[in-house]
Amino acid sequence: MNLLFLTGNQHKFAEAKSILKAYDVKISPLNLNIEEIRSESCARVAEASAQSAYERARKPLFLEDAGLFVKALNGFPGTYSSWAFSRLGNKGLLRLMRGVENRSAKFVSAIAYVDSKGVRTFTGACEGEIALSARGKKGFGYDPLFIPKGSRKTFAQDAELKKQLSHRRKALEKFAHWYSLKMKKG
Ligand code: IMP
Repeated sequence: MNLLFLTGNQHKFAEAKSILKAYDVKISPLNLNIEEIRSESCARVAEASAQSAYERARKPLFLEDAGLFVKALNGFPGTYSSWAFSRLGNKGLLRLMRGVENRSAKFVSAIAYVDSKGVRTFTGACEGEIALSARGKKGFGYDPLFIPKGSRKTFAQDAELKKQLSHRRKALEKFAHWYSLKMKKG
Protein backbone atom coordinates (compact mmCIF):
# COMPACT_ATOMS: atom_id res chain seq x y z
CA MET A 1 0.00 0.00 0.00
CA ASN A 2 1.17 3.51 -0.79
CA LEU A 3 2.31 5.72 2.06
CA LEU A 4 0.01 8.69 2.71
CA PHE A 5 1.36 12.22 2.30
CA LEU A 6 -0.91 14.72 4.01
CA THR A 7 -0.88 17.79 1.81
CA GLY A 8 -3.25 19.92 -0.22
CA ASN A 9 -0.32 21.33 -2.21
CA GLN A 10 0.03 19.63 -5.60
CA HIS A 11 3.51 21.06 -6.15
CA LYS A 12 4.77 19.63 -2.88
CA PHE A 13 3.19 16.28 -3.75
CA ALA A 14 4.81 16.18 -7.19
CA GLU A 15 8.23 17.10 -5.75
CA ALA A 16 7.97 14.45 -3.04
CA LYS A 17 6.74 11.78 -5.46
CA SER A 18 9.63 12.34 -7.81
CA ILE A 19 12.27 12.41 -5.03
CA LEU A 20 10.91 9.37 -3.16
CA LYS A 21 10.68 7.29 -6.35
CA ALA A 22 14.43 6.77 -6.19
CA TYR A 23 13.94 5.08 -2.80
CA ASP A 24 11.06 2.94 -4.05
CA VAL A 25 8.68 4.73 -1.67
CA LYS A 26 5.33 5.21 -3.38
CA ILE A 27 2.97 7.83 -2.02
CA SER A 28 -0.68 8.86 -2.24
CA PRO A 29 -2.12 12.23 -1.27
CA LEU A 30 -4.33 12.66 1.78
CA ASN A 31 -6.25 15.86 2.33
CA LEU A 32 -7.34 16.58 5.91
CA ASN A 33 -7.76 19.97 7.45
CA ILE A 34 -5.43 20.08 10.44
CA GLU A 35 -5.10 23.26 12.47
CA GLU A 36 -1.43 24.22 12.89
CA ILE A 37 0.08 25.22 16.23
CA ARG A 38 2.08 28.44 16.57
CA SER A 39 5.80 27.92 16.87
CA GLU A 40 8.90 29.41 15.28
CA SER A 41 10.15 25.90 14.50
CA CYS A 42 8.98 24.05 11.38
CA ALA A 43 9.90 20.77 13.09
CA ARG A 44 7.70 21.57 16.08
CA VAL A 45 4.77 22.56 13.82
CA ALA A 46 5.17 19.42 11.70
CA GLU A 47 5.40 17.20 14.79
CA ALA A 48 2.23 18.62 16.36
CA SER A 49 0.32 18.42 13.06
CA ALA A 50 1.39 14.79 12.62
CA GLN A 51 0.09 13.93 16.08
CA SER A 52 -3.28 15.56 15.34
CA ALA A 53 -3.46 13.93 11.89
CA TYR A 54 -2.80 10.47 13.33
CA GLU A 55 -5.61 10.92 15.85
CA ARG A 56 -7.94 11.54 12.91
CA ALA A 57 -6.63 9.14 10.24
CA ARG A 58 -5.28 6.29 12.43
CA LYS A 59 -2.96 5.32 9.58
CA PRO A 60 0.78 5.80 9.06
CA LEU A 61 1.35 9.06 7.19
CA PHE A 62 3.80 11.90 6.76
CA LEU A 63 3.43 15.62 6.26
CA GLU A 64 5.69 18.62 5.80
CA ASP A 65 5.94 22.08 7.24
CA ALA A 66 8.16 24.45 5.30
CA GLY A 67 9.06 28.10 5.41
CA LEU A 68 11.31 30.83 4.13
CA PHE A 69 13.50 32.47 6.79
CA VAL A 70 14.91 35.87 5.76
CA LYS A 71 17.91 37.03 7.80
CA ALA A 72 17.34 40.79 7.50
CA LEU A 73 13.73 40.27 8.64
CA ASN A 74 14.81 38.30 11.73
CA GLY A 75 13.53 35.06 10.22
CA PHE A 76 10.19 36.36 8.92
CA PRO A 77 8.06 34.92 7.34
CA GLY A 78 9.40 31.61 8.75
CA THR A 79 6.63 29.33 9.96
CA TYR A 80 4.14 32.02 8.91
CA SER A 81 5.21 31.73 5.27
CA SER A 82 1.92 30.43 4.00
CA TRP A 83 -0.03 33.17 5.77
CA ALA A 84 2.43 35.87 4.64
CA PHE A 85 2.35 34.61 1.06
CA SER A 86 -1.43 34.80 0.91
CA ARG A 87 -1.45 38.36 2.36
CA LEU A 88 1.71 39.93 0.90
CA GLY A 89 2.76 37.70 -1.98
CA ASN A 90 6.17 38.03 -3.57
CA LYS A 91 5.56 41.72 -4.29
CA GLY A 92 4.98 42.41 -0.61
CA LEU A 93 8.13 40.56 0.42
CA LEU A 94 10.15 42.49 -2.16
CA ARG A 95 8.71 45.71 -0.74
CA LEU A 96 9.87 44.73 2.76
CA MET A 97 13.32 44.06 1.31
CA ARG A 98 13.59 47.37 -0.56
CA GLY A 99 17.02 48.92 0.08
CA VAL A 100 18.16 45.92 2.14
CA GLU A 101 21.69 44.85 1.22
CA ASN A 102 21.98 41.60 3.15
CA ARG A 103 19.55 39.40 1.21
CA SER A 104 20.51 36.08 2.85
CA ALA A 105 17.64 33.67 3.36
CA LYS A 106 17.03 29.99 3.78
CA PHE A 107 14.24 27.60 3.05
CA VAL A 108 13.57 25.02 5.75
CA SER A 109 11.57 21.83 5.40
CA ALA A 110 10.48 19.56 8.24
CA ILE A 111 8.99 16.19 7.45
CA ALA A 112 7.07 14.42 10.22
CA TYR A 113 6.23 10.74 9.91
CA VAL A 114 3.75 9.23 12.32
CA ASP A 115 2.47 5.75 13.06
CA SER A 116 1.26 3.86 16.13
CA LYS A 117 4.78 4.10 17.61
CA GLY A 118 4.88 7.91 17.53
CA VAL A 119 6.37 10.74 15.46
CA ARG A 120 9.81 11.09 13.81
CA THR A 121 10.92 14.36 12.24
CA PHE A 122 13.53 15.03 9.56
CA THR A 123 14.70 18.47 8.54
CA GLY A 124 16.49 19.98 5.56
CA ALA A 125 17.56 23.51 4.67
CA CYS A 126 18.67 25.32 1.55
CA GLU A 127 20.70 28.53 1.90
CA GLY A 128 20.45 31.30 -0.62
CA GLU A 129 19.30 34.84 -1.13
CA ILE A 130 16.30 36.93 -2.09
CA ALA A 131 16.44 38.22 -5.67
CA LEU A 132 15.95 41.92 -6.44
CA SER A 133 12.89 41.08 -8.54
CA ALA A 134 10.68 38.03 -9.18
CA ARG A 135 12.03 35.79 -11.95
CA GLY A 136 10.69 32.57 -13.51
CA LYS A 137 7.37 30.81 -13.83
CA LYS A 138 8.03 27.31 -12.46
CA GLY A 139 7.41 26.00 -8.97
CA PHE A 140 5.25 27.78 -6.40
CA GLY A 141 5.22 30.25 -3.52
CA TYR A 142 8.47 32.15 -3.06
CA ASP A 143 10.32 30.20 -5.80
CA PRO A 144 10.54 33.28 -8.12
CA LEU A 145 12.44 35.14 -5.37
CA PHE A 146 14.79 32.47 -4.11
CA ILE A 147 18.31 32.09 -5.54
CA PRO A 148 20.10 29.10 -3.99
CA LYS A 149 23.76 29.54 -3.04
CA GLY A 150 26.07 28.98 -6.01
CA SER A 151 23.45 29.80 -8.63
CA ARG A 152 22.32 32.89 -10.48
CA LYS A 153 18.89 31.54 -11.27
CA THR A 154 15.86 31.46 -9.02
CA PHE A 155 14.13 28.16 -8.21
CA ALA A 156 11.26 29.30 -10.47
CA GLN A 157 13.66 29.62 -13.41
CA ASP A 158 15.14 26.16 -13.05
CA ALA A 159 13.02 23.28 -11.76
CA GLU A 160 15.91 20.82 -12.11
CA LEU A 161 18.09 23.03 -9.89
CA LYS A 162 15.34 23.10 -7.29
CA LYS A 163 14.97 19.33 -7.45
CA GLN A 164 18.70 18.90 -6.78
CA LEU A 165 19.19 21.49 -4.05
CA SER A 166 15.90 22.04 -2.28
CA HIS A 167 15.21 21.96 1.43
CA ARG A 168 12.46 19.46 0.63
CA ARG A 169 14.86 17.07 -1.09
CA LYS A 170 17.23 17.16 1.88
CA ALA A 171 14.49 16.43 4.42
CA LEU A 172 12.86 13.80 2.20
CA GLU A 173 16.16 12.01 1.60
CA LYS A 174 16.78 11.71 5.35
CA PHE A 175 13.25 10.46 5.83
CA ALA A 176 13.39 8.02 2.90
CA HIS A 177 16.67 6.56 4.10
CA TRP A 178 15.21 5.91 7.57
CA TYR A 179 11.87 4.69 6.20
CA SER A 180 13.43 2.21 3.73
CA LEU A 181 15.48 0.64 6.54
CA LYS A 182 12.42 0.46 8.75
CA MET A 183 10.43 -1.30 6.00
CA LYS A 184 13.25 -3.79 5.42
CA LYS A 185 13.36 -4.63 9.13
CA GLY A 186 9.59 -5.11 9.02
P1 IMP B 1 3.50 25.07 4.35
O1 IMP B 1 4.56 24.08 4.68
O2 IMP B 1 2.47 24.51 3.43
O3 IMP B 1 2.95 25.77 5.55
O4 IMP B 1 4.26 26.11 3.43
C1 IMP B 1 4.50 27.40 3.81
C2 IMP B 1 4.62 28.33 2.65
O5 IMP B 1 6.00 28.49 2.38
C3 IMP B 1 3.99 27.92 1.34
O6 IMP B 1 2.68 28.35 1.22
C4 IMP B 1 4.87 28.64 0.33
O7 IMP B 1 4.41 29.95 0.17
C5 IMP B 1 6.21 28.65 1.03
N1 IMP B 1 7.03 27.52 0.57
C6 IMP B 1 7.24 26.33 1.18
N2 IMP B 1 8.05 25.56 0.44
C7 IMP B 1 8.33 26.28 -0.66
C8 IMP B 1 9.10 26.01 -1.82
O8 IMP B 1 9.66 24.93 -2.02
N3 IMP B 1 9.15 27.00 -2.72
C9 IMP B 1 8.53 28.20 -2.55
N4 IMP B 1 7.79 28.50 -1.52
C10 IMP B 1 7.69 27.54 -0.57
